Amino acid sequence: MLVYRPIRQRTQRLLLSFLLIAACETGSSQVHYSLPEEAKHGTFVGRIAQDLGLELEELVPRLFRVASKGRGDLLEVNLQNGILFVNSRIDREELCGRSAECSIHLEVIVDRPLQVFHVEVEVKDINDNPPVFSVSEQKLSIYESRLLDSRFPLEGASDADIGENAMLTYRLSPNDFFTLDIINKKDKGKLPVLVLRKLLDREENPQLQLLLTATDGGKPELMGFVTLLILVLDANDNAPLFDRSVYEVKMYENSANQTLVIWLNASDVDEGINKEIIYSFSSLVPPSTRRKFLMNESTGEIRVNDAIDFEDSNTYEIHVDVTDKGNPPMVGHCTVLVEILDENDNSPEVVVTSLALPVREDAHVGTVIALISVSDRDSGANGQVTCTLTPHVPFKLVSTFKNYYSLVLDSALDRESLENYEVVVTARDAGSPSLSATASSGEGPPKADLMAFSPSLTPCPLPDVEGEEQSTGGNHSSKVGYCFSIFIVCFVNILFHRFPPQISWETGSSQVHYSVPEEAKHGSFVGRIAQDLGLELEELVPRLFRAQGVALYLEEIVHSRVGLSSQELRI
Ligand SMILES: *[C@@H]1O[C@H](CO)[C@@H](O)[C@H](O)[C@H]1NC(C)=O
Ligand SMILES: *[C@@H]1O[C@H](CO)[C@@H](O)[C@H](O)[C@H]1NC(C)=O
Ligand SMILES: *[C@@H]1O[C@H](CO)[C@@H](O)[C@H](O)[C@H]1NC(C)=O
Ligand SMILES: *[C@@H]1O[C@H](CO)[C@@H](O)[C@H](O)[C@H]1NC(C)=O
Repeated sequence: MLVYRPIRQRTQRLLLSFLLIAACETGSSQVHYSLPEEAKHGTFVGRIAQDLGLELEELVPRLFRVASKGRGDLLEVNLQNGILFVNSRIDREELCGRSAECSIHLEVIVDRPLQVFHVEVEVKDINDNPPVFSVSEQKLSIYESRLLDSRFPLEGASDADIGENAMLTYRLSPNDFFTLDIINKKDKGKLPVLVLRKLLDREENPQLQLLLTATDGGKPELMGFVTLLILVLDANDNAPLFDRSVYEVKMYENSANQTLVIWLNASDVDEGINKEIIYSFSSLVPPSTRRKFLMNESTGEIRVNDAIDFEDSNTYEIHVDVTDKGNPPMVGHCTVLVEILDENDNSPEVVVTSLALPVREDAHVGTVIALISVSDRDSGANGQVTCTLTPHVPFKLVSTFKNYYSLVLDSALDRESLENYEVVVTARDAGSPSLSATASSGEGPPKADLMAFSPSLTPCPLPDVEGEEQSTGGNHSSKVGYCFSIFIVCFVNILFHRFPPQISWETGSSQVHYSVPEEAKHGSFVGRIAQDLGLELEELVPRLFRAQGVALYLEEIVHSRVGLSSQELRI
């Protein structure tokens, strides 16, 4: 060790400078200490005086002092015991940032002779910095339609420490949908990446909240957290749905135009435009049904748009589509079964198919005077027709077969006491209130025999029938009816002398049954009717044999056996 001695000569200044430099060089035998950062005030660093070979008692006289460039007073020496200690908190990261090496350089100077020592105090990293994410919550928007193994890079954490203390590992909170993959970057950082392992479904989980944890390698380790908020975006993966596949509706015929038939409500669990829906009739709906009903595309209301007639059709099957506006669109279906209920909107019809007038006063009781058929297009009670006759006349109605009646002589006539009768036949249905008959003229046999009909269809007072009530409104109930009259004139002379009275117009109670398959062609053999009725072939023409009744009779048979509508019947 060189010792500086004061030299008075000014000429020796140059030498002084040299010696100073030399003295500086003496400090090359550096003293090295190390201490962890964040050490508390007063923490022992080293016995600096002793380590520099200085006596404790010379420290003060020789003006022992410590200088550190720009490092202020982080460290200090106790001149009594020559110990270097921590004066104020040392933060390695503040001092050296992220550089791997961090030390404080101290210059120790003593005078007489001037000596300079260099002391290096290494500041060691402690794990005092947790991993830090730049935000507390990371938002990710992911379409529910994303495929498995899709990857979503995340922003990693940073750690101000160095080495192991900054070596991060990542962990994802347990969940069904994502796992974590780590990409090692060139700068030795790590990039966490979410990997989709289970398909997302917005309708089930519109958003997911996961926790990403970064842990450093210090001892003890420190952790940082970030919440991953995953917003699942909608894809058009749900068709609109009706809550039922079939809706059954009953409505009366003759419903007013625009009457609501049904209000359909489909729903689509998707979002936004994917849940906007349009209703329409399916292509399966025939034009005849489309004409009858109107679909409101936006509300799903189906309303009546045309006359609804039970006798025309008593059910409608409406297939409805509902389509969303997604791309591509998805379609839902339902069927509306509309059952039309009958109203008593058809009056019974009365047709006189045969008349044998005038009547001899000596005609036998039981002689048939007129054949009457009744019908009603309504169904059920509304179509059940009964015929009644003016009371207190020597005639009666005999039901021959279902809706067929014969007007027959009930007691002996006496022209001399009463020459003619007005007989009113009233057909009424069982609707409530009932409708009664209308009759048309001219369908009878020889017009010469037809004395009179009431030609108009005007309502007439009805004979009292038990349990009947007048119309009060509501059209599924019945109405006031009509009637028609037959004037029966009695003659003394035998007009129809050719017809033996005993077989003339006896009520046809001896019925003959035939059956024919539907769709039978014109001319198909049905039965030997004359023979089966006990008539001689040669008397058919003179006796004006005619078959309206038979035709209707067959119609009845066919109708009841195969359920044909009368329009379809061809005989
Ligand atoms: C549809 O919604 C309307 C209005 O809320 C309601 O009146 C109607 O009954 C619903 N239709 C069906 C079939 O549920
Ligand atoms: C459907 O209903 C809506 C709401 O009642 C109405 O504004 C619209 O005019 C209707 N559309 C049709 C075609 O009737
Ligand atoms: C029913 O109403 C609609 C709309 O007002 C109209 O277009 C249609 O012609 C009407 N139908 C009948 C049978 O009046
Ligand atoms: C019933 O129908 C008849 C004819 O079809 C009509 O004149 C009458 O106004 C209707 N009555 C009611 C209450 O709707």
